[in-house]
Amino acid sequence: MDGNSIRRTFIDFFASRAHEVVRSASLIPVDATLLLTGAGMVPFKAYMLGEEPAPYSRAVSIQKCARTTDIDVVGTTRRHLTFFEMLGNFSFGDYFKERAIPWAYELIVEEYGLDPERLWYTVHETDDEAAEIWIDLVGVPPERVQRFDKDNFWQMGVPGPAGPSSEVFFDKGSEYGESGGPAVNDERYMEFWNLVFMQSVQDKPFHVVGDLPAKNIDTGAGLDRFATILQGVDSVFDTDLVRPVMAAAEAACGIRYGDGRQSDISLRIMADHGRAITFLIGDGVIASNEGRGHVLRRLIRRSVRHAYLYGAVEPVMPRLVDATVEVMRETYPELVDRQPYITEMVEREEYAFRRTLASGDQLLEDALARLGEGDTFSGETAFKLHDTYGFPVEVTAEILSERGYGLDRAGFDKAMNEQRHRSREAFKGGDLAAKQDAYLSLLKGIEQTEFTGYEHERGTARALSLVRAGELVERAVVDEPVEVFVDRTPFYAEAGGQVGDSGILVSETGKIRIEDTQFVVTGLNGHRGRVVEGFIQVGQDVEAVIDSERRERIRKNHTGTHLLHWALREVIGEHVHQAGSLVEEARLRFDFSHFESLGPDEIEAVEKLVNERIIENAAVSTVETTKENAERMGALAFFGDRYTESVRVVRAGDYSVEFCGGTHVSTTGQVGPLMVVSEGAVAANTRRMDALTGAAAYEYITTLRAQVRGAERELRAQPGQLVAMATSMAQRMRDYETRIEQFEADSRTQLAEAILETAEDLGDRSVVAATTEGLASRELRALAFQIRDRMGSGIGILGSNQSGKGALVVWVSEDLVADGLSAGDIISRGAVILGGGGSRDRSLAQAGGPKGSEIEEAVNKSAILAREAVIGK
Ligand code: SER
Repeated sequence: MDGNSIRRTFIDFFASRAHEVVRSASLIPVDATLLLTGAGMVPFKAYMLGEEPAPYSRAVSIQKCARTTDIDVVGTTRRHLTFFEMLGNFSFGDYFKERAIPWAYELIVEEYGLDPERLWYTVHETDDEAAEIWIDLVGVPPERVQRFDKDNFWQMGVPGPAGPSSEVFFDKGSEYGESGGPAVNDERYMEFWNLVFMQSVQDKPFHVVGDLPAKNIDTGAGLDRFATILQGVDSVFDTDLVRPVMAAAEAACGIRYGDGRQSDISLRIMADHGRAITFLIGDGVIASNEGRGHVLRRLIRRSVRHAYLYGAVEPVMPRLVDATVEVMRETYPELVDRQPYITEMVEREEYAFRRTLASGDQLLEDALARLGEGDTFSGETAFKLHDTYGFPVEVTAEILSERGYGLDRAGFDKAMNEQRHRSREAFKGGDLAAKQDAYLSLLKGIEQTEFTGYEHERGTARALSLVRAGELVERAVVDEPVEVFVDRTPFYAEAGGQVGDSGILVSETGKIRIEDTQFVVTGLNGHRGRVVEGFIQVGQDVEAVIDSERRERIRKNHTGTHLLHWALREVIGEHVHQAGSLVEEARLRFDFSHFESLGPDEIEAVEKLVNERIIENAAVSTVETTKENAERMGALAFFGDRYTESVRVVRAGDYSVEFCGGTHVSTTGQVGPLMVVSEGAVAANTRRMDALTGAAAYEYITTLRAQVRGAERELRAQPGQLVAMATSMAQRMRDYETRIEQFEADSRTQLAEAILETAEDLGDRSVVAATTEGLASRELRALAFQIRDRMGSGIGILGSNQSGKGALVVWVSEDLVADGLSAGDIISRGAVILGGGGSRDRSLAQAGGPKGSEIEEAVNKSAILAREAVIGK
């Protein structure tokens, strides 16, 4: 059974049992507390927690998943992957264990045709109910059901939903070790399906603090493990889902898989990472040094490192991408469209990293060169090689043992643990989750805020809750800061890059100035402000009025952002994707994926295209539709997407279509002129553009014009002549500079000749010594060269006092150098007198020091030494 049939069988089985078929969400989760989508239930978390009503009570999905928890064991086992697809069926308060377990069994045995003799099961040690369902209802032999504690408890992040689980294992046969079920042997018995009975909420690992609003089912079966079993192969790497990618790695490195050597591990790593990398970039992750961009970069570097190790000369990454797209194209056709972009990113990363690798080799060699006999190699250095240069520690250890050195493994482990700790902290996104939780418990039971602000700028609402300094209050009085929650509001809460609204809330007894509106959790608009008159009280009716002028500017910037995004794709290419945006009243800022800076011509072309569309004044419209429909319309979405029934799509003319919840003008003409004011890099492969619209853009243009006029006035240029005039002035300036340089050279020659005349003859040799004023050491040296070139055998000394600092130059003619004299020796005493130091060169030495007033003394003392030296020869 190939991968596609396994997928189809799973979906069909549950679809025919009234499950909504839900498409895979992005690997970038909407949930800000998570780094990556790592389980099939991630997109459904809000339904389980009861934060949002589930639009269907049963669902089945095949979710793309990426997990980095096992990254270090990937390759060393037969079953671990960083990227995998999870087959899952879900119930949101509908059926529970009594159906989930029998269905799982029916599907495994009847549809997939697995031999029940080879199946084993585990349940949580306290879960008699699940054990009874397996034994009494399904009829499996009691000795096949084993009990575990932590292994049969599943949790999603903390805080989050959790529950006991039941897992299904496949017995791979006696060639994989002794019998006795998963309790005895976890290599022979492979877990492939996890049924979680989601019923609890927990605040820290294994610490349940309450029940979920309903009992839910969340099951997850790894597609690749299923395929391992159904295709009768040795490991996930031998399935039709991974083997072709492995073949690409073999071809790139010129080695074969399956001979049981260390190289098998490398090939498995490349095959797994190649898949993960392709999907991560396909879903919009951009290689960088933090967060998920860091995960991506690390995966790329590990793959390249392994290929490099086996001498792959040609880039390996594009081949892995090609192979992955080939395997996955039927199920994920979007990968085919994004392939050129994915390839470009991996190529650039690989190219840059290969240069790093060469320096890694150097670091290793340097560290080795410093080791004495019997020394151990530093764990920190090994960690640096691992972390920065992607050298697996086993490889470093191997190289060391070949050279007869040991490795400080404990030091390496310590550095490694510190790193793990850092990434775990980042993963939790601690603060945000904690804050959201605090609000949720504070505002328990409060309805979601109804947003009326697409159509209205004001409206009546009821004050439901007031929060001050983290506590609920009944009223807030003048001067107090307060956060207000109402039933319906025209205030837009910051989302999708658009900043929150400001304005006022007025009740019978008082007025609050709202500075900002933020979602404290999804769907709950917190109006943050300060009471400016009287007081406000829970339960009162309030008139909510947004700052319309500010909102108008925000609207222009938001529509402007969409036009800019569209035009960038037109001008630079389809690989441009939004990587972040900020839409505020003063300007818009747009981050996008692109590899190099834009030239002035490109920026102008983008700007021109946008302004043409603005002048055209096409309609901007919004529709609510299904996600599928929106994608058919060609809507651009490159962020975490979630399963909601309807999505909002904003269109401008017939060219720009985007998923967007923001507020927009109704025709493009209202954007006013759009001017790009800056373009630069924000991160690797990510560019940032700032632009102005409306009155701000107009002001920008008039300011530029005023500057032009000012310059025309100063230069007495006729209108339109400014550039020609600037060009000719710049030319004149360059001419003057050349003439000045010439003049300086001439006067240096005269000075050189004057000094030469003072030379003291000592037989057929001479010594020349002079002090000048105001020459910098560079000029002093130029003067020295001129004199030296005109002088025969001898020694020269030149000093200069430049604003209190002393500079000294001494040279010795080549014949005297050959005789053993050294400029460095002669200058040494002078250097001391100047209170500084000098170089030790033999033919030309320089010195400098703070005591410029002593320069004459320094020159004289050096001249005495010079004379003695010449006479002595
Ligand atoms: N959430 C569980 C898992 O990821 C079951 O889907 O294993």
